This record gives sequence, C-alpha cells and structure tokens, in this order.
Amino acid sequence: MIFVTGGAGFIGSNFVLGWLAGKDEPVVNLDKLTYAGNLENLRGVEQDARHVFVRGDICDAALVTALLGTHRPRAIVHFAAESHVDRSILGPGDFVTTNVNGTFVLLEAARAYFSSLNGAERDSFRFLHVSTDEVYGSLGPQDPPFTETTAYAPNSPYSASKAASDHLVRAYRHTYGLPTLTTNCSNNYGPYQFPEKLIPLMVANALAGKPLPVYGDGKNVRDWLYVGDHCSAVRRVLQDGRLGETYNIGGWNEMSNLEVVHTLCDILDELAPASRSYRAQIAFVADRPGHDRRYAMDARKIERELGWKPAETFSTGIRKTVQWYLDHQDWVRNVQSGDYLKWVEQNYGARGTAQERAA
Ligand code: NAD
Ligand code: DAU
Repeated sequence: MIFVTGGAGFIGSNFVLGWLAGKDEPVVNLDKLTYAGNLENLRGVEQDARHVFVRGDICDAALVTALLGTHRPRAIVHFAAESHVDRSILGPGDFVTTNVNGTFVLLEAARAYFSSLNGAERDSFRFLHVSTDEVYGSLGPQDPPFTETTAYAPNSPYSASKAASDHLVRAYRHTYGLPTLTTNCSNNYGPYQFPEKLIPLMVANALAGKPLPVYGDGKNVRDWLYVGDHCSAVRRVLQDGRLGETYNIGGWNEMSNLEVVHTLCDILDELAPASRSYRAQIAFVADRPGHDRRYAMDARKIERELGWKPAETFSTGIRKTVQWYLDHQDWVRNVQSGDYLKWVEQNYGARGTAQERAA
C-alpha cells in the first residue's frame, strides 16, 4: 500500500480518488483536517476498504512512526501542507510548523522505517515530496521558464517554507540515501479546490453576486494545470522517476489573472446567465504584499524522461471545472463555514477597491 499525507485537501483528495479508480493498491491517508481538509471530498471512497483514513498531524512523530510500522507502505506521497500564500502573509507560523517541521518529522520517520527494510521492500521504497514552482521566485516578462536547475529564490513565507522542505528532502537523499523524489508544480485548478484560491473564489463570488477581487493590476501571470494532470504526473514520477531527482510539472499555459477571470466570467455568462455579464462584478483591490509577477514552468524533463504531458488544455479543463462548481454548490456552501467568513473579512476587508482607495 501507499501512505499519503494531506489526502483530504484539494490535490490530495483528487490523487486518492484517481489512485483508487485506477489501481487496487490500498491507501493510508493521514490528514489533520485543517480548514482546507474535507472528508466530503472523499465521499466516493468512504465505504471502500482500500482507503484507510487517519485523522492526525504529520508533526506527531509517534503517530507517523506507528502508522508506517503497522501498514508498511511501499511509498510515501507527501501532499500535506499549509498552501495559501495570503494566509502565510497574515500568519506565517503554521506554515513553518507544518511545511518545515512536519516534513522533517516525516523524513525522520521515513528514515527509520527505510533502515528497517531489506531486499525487494528496501529497493522499491520511495518518498515522494510534492512541492511548488513558487520556490523559484518570480520571472520577468522575457525570462525563460523555470527549469529544475533554476536557483531557489522564494519570496513569501509559504514559498520559503516549501523551499526549506525541499532542501530537507534533498539533504535526506544526499546524507542518508533515502530514496526521495521531488515534484515542483505550477498552479492547479479543478474540483474540490477550496474557495480561497483564485478560480473557485471567483466562481463562488460571481454566483453570489459579490465583487470579483483582482489584486493589483491583474497582470500577474501564472501557469495553470488541471489537477488531474498533476496527479497523473505524480503517479509517473512515483513509478519511474530517478532517485534524488526533481521534476518540474506545468501546463505550458501562462495566463494573466485578468485573462483567467475574464474566461471564468464568459463561461458563467454562457452556463449560468444573469441579468448582466459577470465581468461587471470585477473589482481591482490592493495588491498582495510581495506579489510574485510571473511563474512559468519548463516541463520538458518530465516529458523527455518519463513521457508525461498534460492531457487537458486550459479551455477543456476550465469548462469542466466551472461546470463542477455549478453542480456542487452545496459543497461550496458547506466549506464556507464561520471560519471561512472570518478569513474573508481578514483578507479582503482591509483591501478596498481601487475606487475606495482613490476616494
Ligand atoms: P490544500 O490546502 O487544499 O490541502 C492541504 C491538506 O493538508 C489539507 O487536507 C489539510 O488538512 C492537510 N494538512 C495541513 N496541515 C497538516 C498537518 N500538519 N498534518 C496533516 N495534514 C495536514 O493544499 P493543496 O492545494 O491540495 O496542495 C497540496 C500540496 O501540493 C501542498 O504541498 C502544496 O504546497 C502543493 N502544491 C499545490 C499547488 C496548487 O496549485 N494548489 C501547486 C503546486 C504544489
Ligand atoms: O504556483 C503554485 C502555487 O499556486 C501553489 O504552490 C499554492 O499552494 C497555490 O495556492 C497557488 O498559489 P498562488 O498564490 O499563485 O494562488 P492563488 O489562487 O492564491 O492566486 C493566484 C493569482 O491570483 C495570484 O497572482 C494572486 C491572484 N489573486 C488571488 C486571489 C485569492 C487575486 O487577484 N485575487 C484573489 O482574491
């Protein structure tokens, strides 16, 4: 079986559902169920004996050690993290605790477990660390995309904590010979993404008749990838990735935030028409502090070495995604709990629209 961390979050739950749909190999899923983790995402495998869900913290060394000893997984796939840049700006502590210390605890437990393995079990064991393109910092408009050898230059507490975890993983390979793999992926979108992130937030606000808050001038660029493609890339790397290597994963799909928001409005105008275009709800608000201008991934290594390419284009993936949110408005309402409302007030209350700031 495999041991997944953070499998009740956005990407982790898509990964677990996809894994169990394609293979009979069981999954132990360790998740703390923070505000971002949601068992509703896993309803499709609730009764499935191949899915063992454990509510717990990756920082709990005794728990992680016991789970590895009991279930004896052939691989660890590590998604658990605090993942939202704006939250890391308002409260960086949890990011250091989970992303840095949690990864350290997991690596220590994995090292002890790996040293207890022999023969084929030892040869096949893998520790796959899921990371982000944000560790590379920000690109200028003419810069080539990030490659696996681009120097790390994280700019937010979130990306700094992920960079620190990447370095720990690298060190455990180099120093202790732990069979590690690291993936660095660009921005994901798709089903089950918490509506604090750009795409689900815009869809939820649009349908609720609320402003669509675009930070700064809306010209920041991200490289968008459908979550199912990220999951298929992780599976490819887990199966055939070279030990100790890092693999960039991206969609070859750079878009400005404003282009993304316009696309969402246009699809909603078609699928859920209102009395006026949703574009009328766009509101420019104060920028994110230290906002990285552009990310772009050079994903040629994973294509060359492992034959992976994204299956979705942005136009197919985004249409499916908007349709999913239209079909799952209960899911959105359920995750928009009291805590969510507090967050919205904290993050957006002080920003004001461009007009309000000018007044
Ligand atoms: P998410 O915030 O939706 O989910 C994170 C999950 O981790 C949640 O289920 C949460 O409950 C769990 N978790 C948090 N702290 C934990 C702890 N201490 N112990 C156990 N579980 C804990 O995040 P996501 O967007 O699904 O991202 C998953 C991973 O992929 C992260 O490592 C993130 O850095 C990376 N990543 C995300 C993106 C993206 O666009 N979302 C892109 C590249 C890489
Ligand atoms: O690049 C990979 C990263 O993508 C992951 O590592 C992170 O976990 C994930 O959260 C994401 O980070 P971003 O900061 O790029 O994603 P977010 O959806 O928060 O924002 C995308 C862009 O949209 C960014 O330029 C900020 C902007 N934005 C975001 C929000 C929430 C807005 O303009 N308005 C908003 O309300």
